Amino acid sequence: MMRAVLAAVLAAAVTLPATIAAAGPIEDRKAIMKGNGRDTKLGADMLKGAVPFDAAAATKILANYAAAAKAFPGHFPANSKTGGETEAAPAIWDKPADWKAATAKFQTDTAAAVAMNPTDAAGFGKAFGLVTANCKSCHEAFRIKKG
Ligand code: HEC
Repeated sequence: MMRAVLAAVLAAAVTLPATIAAAGPIEDRKAIMKGNGRDTKLGADMLKGAVPFDAAAATKILANYAAAAKAFPGHFPANSKTGGETEAAPAIWDKPADWKAATAKFQTDTAAAVAMNPTDAAGFGKAFGLVTANCKSCHEAFRIKKG
């Protein structure tokens, strides 16, 4: 009995570092992108009128985008090219200048969108469009969509 408990405790102790390692750059960058996905859904719903336009929510969405654009490029170390069901394309590491340009554009456009400081749906639509053009162009070049 004691032996079985001890074995279980040891097994847990051994598997723990593996669990920590799994929460690495791939999970982090996916989490950032999931946030982008949620914000884009809400923004699109506001622009369609599916949910009422809310200036504070719009401001928050644009601020989230800018924060995401800043944080995202820091999660692509060379040892994260594969694994963790990543959809990151090899081009990120094979064409570093292009990747840098795409991430820099995302930062510039999200900062510009924040600076536009929209207070109505029409203004938000412009800022939102400026940002979301990046989603498509970057995914086409640097994301391999699975499933
Ligand atoms: C500079 C490049 C770039 C931009 C800009 C970008 N993405 Fe991504 N996105 C990626 C890459 C690369 C992945 C794959 C990450 C991985 O799986 O490791 C990804 C993955 C995703 C995912 C899947 C996350 C998951 O669950 O695995 C969503 C959703 C997403 N992006 C939404 C967006 C939206 C919405 C925008 C625009 C607001 C956006 N992205 C802008 C590069 C970008």
